[in-house]
Amino acid sequence: MDLMEYQAKELFAKHGVPVTTGIVATTPDEAKAAAEQLGVVVVKAQVKAGGRGKAGGVKLAKTPDEAHQHASNILGMQIKGLTVNRVLIAPAATIEEEYYFSFLLDRANRSYLCIASVEGGVEIEEVAKTNPDAVKQIPIDAGAGVDDAKAREIVAEAGFPEALTEQAVTTVLTLWKTFVEEDATLVEVNPLARLEGDVLEALDGKVSLDENAEFRHDDHAGFEDKAAADPLEAKAKAKGLNYVKLDGEVGIIGNGAGLVMSTLDVVAYAGEKHGGVKPANFLDIGGGASAQVMADGLDVILGDDQVKSVFVNVFGGITSCDAVANGIKGALELLGDNATKPLVVRLDGNNVDEGRAILDELNHPLVTQVETMDGAADKAAELANGQGA
Ligand SMILES: Nc1ncnc2c1ncn2[C@@H]1O[C@H](COP(=O)(O)OP(=O)(O)O)[C@@H](O)[C@H]1O
Ligand SMILES: [Mg+2]
Repeated sequence: MDLMEYQAKELFAKHGVPVTTGIVATTPDEAKAAAEQLGVVVVKAQVKAGGRGKAGGVKLAKTPDEAHQHASNILGMQIKGLTVNRVLIAPAATIEEEYYFSFLLDRANRSYLCIASVEGGVEIEEVAKTNPDAVKQIPIDAGAGVDDAKAREIVAEAGFPEALTEQAVTTVLTLWKTFVEEDATLVEVNPLARLEGDVLEALDGKVSLDENAEFRHDDHAGFEDKAAADPLEAKAKAKGLNYVKLDGEVGIIGNGAGLVMSTLDVVAYAGEKHGGVKPANFLDIGGGASAQVMADGLDVILGDDQVKSVFVNVFGGITSCDAVANGIKGALELLGDNATKPLVVRLDGNNVDEGRAILDELNHPLVTQVETMDGAADKAAELANGQGA
């Protein structure tokens, strides 16, 4: 999960990184009130994208009225396809120099990497292209991490000015602490600025959190941007389902991520023959396929108005096909009149005969069984295209 600047700065403050958190505003009036409190400010668009400054999303306001004006221009603006719903009102800093600093997960080398440059700021991508030597890459041993000696090595390698050495070492250590203790995959500061009087401060912040570690960070769920999340995805998440909404008409339920992905492929392929219908979602119900999980999955998928048919593709393994069939039966009972769209079911694997027999016996008007994956995909696409029975 990527955080917005104001959220990243909250984490920085928590771990002692030098930062001014500012005040978040969602209306021009709130922006004005914040500026009355803070004095000369910068009005900053809060979206999960870089390049806000270049897009006109970062503006200096000398008076509260100017803050009001800038906020009314910036709120509602689109930056890289994202709508700005809030602005951060930050005290304006007097910047002498801008540096770039980050810690990130280096997947290719199964380690961590520090990237630092004394030529930071909004042109850092350009610097990386035209003068790559100015951007230092310092590998970090995942076991040893960053201690005082390593922080000093980083600061020397990056070339921070003498006068800032001790502040830079402390900042590097607190950023590393943020990276490790928050289970982040990226902590980036650009600019890490030298302000007048040789004070180092993080004026921007970008943090990506590892969602696999969410269970040990109760506070991280609060960072989620509920307004931006798809309501069906939010509902699925609340039920613990692995669901991604897509654009098509054929709802998909499968067990196991690999099977679901190949199901998307066969449905997309079959759809070409049936009016160009496409998969409506990715939904992996995982190993267990109890009536409740199946009902939860169907409930989410049927909540998508675009869905015209549903393809349940299950390969019985540890969870046998009869358990899955009972799950489908139970789900249809749980959903009752809310189950309104045709269901194509393909069962194979462990206890397949028992599973199919259960659904045959159920003889539900919405359920069609097809033995092969290709055949079932074809049937589901046909039904979605409105040519079916
Ligand atoms: N609080 C601030 N005071 C003065 N200038 C700022 C402040 N915050 C940002 N800036 C200036 O605006 C530029 C862009 O802001 P930044 O937060 O880095 O957004 P982005 O990286 O998305 O463009 C910075 O490089 C800096 O020069
Ligand atoms: Mg920046």
